[in-house]
Order: sequence, then structure tokens, then C-alpha cells
Amino acid sequence: METWDAITARRNVREFADRPIPAADLERILEAGRIAPSSQNNQPWDFVLVTDREMLRELSGVWRGGGHIAGAMAAIAVVIPDEEEARARERNRFDIGQATMQMMIAAADKGIGCGHSAVGEQDLARSILRVPEDRLVAFVVDLGYPADRPLRPGTRLKRRPLDEVVHRDGW
Ligand SMILES: Cc1cc2nc3c(=O)[nH]c(=O)nc-3n(C[C@H](O)[C@H](O)[C@H](O)COP(=O)(O)O)c2cc1C
Repeated sequence: METWDAITARRNVREFADRPIPAADLERILEAGRIAPSSQNNQPWDFVLVTDREMLRELSGVWRGGGHIAGAMAAIAVVIPDEEEARARERNRFDIGQATMQMMIAAADKGIGCGHSAVGEQDLARSILRVPEDRLVAFVVDLGYPADRPLRPGTRLKRRPLDEVVHRDGW
């Protein structure tokens, strides 16, 4: 897909077809996250790739909005240092937002859908993924081909209109 097509095809997918994702595509998606920009090139992220069905099922319990992970073909848990300092926490969250979006666009480029899930049960997430205590499982991105309809460029998303969002030459 062209970049614009991938951007406009991406939407949250929460029901996935029973069709495995080629390993090369998963690697490309992870690579897209790895090369994302970050504050001072800190790269605060680690990614835990999960394809094991039982682990995916367990991961779906880390947040009440994460049930869709159970039926995904894969998930990428985005892990960051568990910082004390508010500025560092904020910076890391911004950085992983960029890495996450870059992975989602790379996935859309291959027709692969992604869902988001926050993580509420931090101890559970750490224990499922064997993540050290000094790290935070910040987020889970789950992946698979959409069960309903393929990703299509030009998907109309429910959004505030451009004229309302954009302020030109000042507020
Ligand atoms: C920070 C963040 C947290 C989110 N958490 C969840 C979640 O826990 N469960 C879920 O199903 N969707 C979650 N979403 C997905 C949003 O609901 C979705 O992106 C939004 O409704 C826009 O829809 P779209 O992605 O289809 O454009 C999250 C998205 C973001 C950016």
C-alpha cells in the first residue's frame, strides 16, 4: 500500500480471522517499532511478542478492555522502565505512542489489523510475560487479519471535523 492508503486503512480491529500472520510480516512490524523516533533517541521500549494461544488468552485478562487479545493471532506487549519521575514517565509514554502507531501503520500496510489494550493488572501482565519488576507493561497491541472485512484505504472514522481541530495562524 501507499503510505496514505495504510494510514487511512488503519482502524481498530477487535475480531480476528483464524489465519496466521507470516513471520516476516511480524518482523517488519516489530522493526517499524524499533526504528521509531524517541526523545533524545532514548528508545525506552522493549517489545514482547506473543503468539502462543494460551498466553494470548491469559493476556486478555490484564484489562477489562483487552478481551479481544484472546482471539488475536499475535500480540506485542510494549514495555518501558517503571520511572518514578513524572517527566520521564510522560516522555516514555509519548515515545511508545509513536512506536505503537508506527507498528500499526506497518501492519495496515500488510492488511493486518491491530487492536489496542491498556494494562490494568500490572502484576499479572508481568508474570505472564516474565517481565522484570522494574519494568512496566505499558500497553498491548494485538494483531490479526480482520474477521469482518479487510482493511480498506479511505475508511471513514468517527472523528471531530478538520475545521474544528485545526486552528490556522493562531487559536
Ligand atoms: C491510549 C489508547 C488506549 C486504548 N485502549 C483500548 C483498550 O483498552 N481496549 C480497546 O478495545 N481499545 C482501546 N483503544 C482503541 C480506541 O478505542 C480506538 O483507537 C478509538 O476508538 C478510535 O478508533 P480507531 O482506532 O478504529 O480509529 C485505545 C486507544 C488508545 C490510543
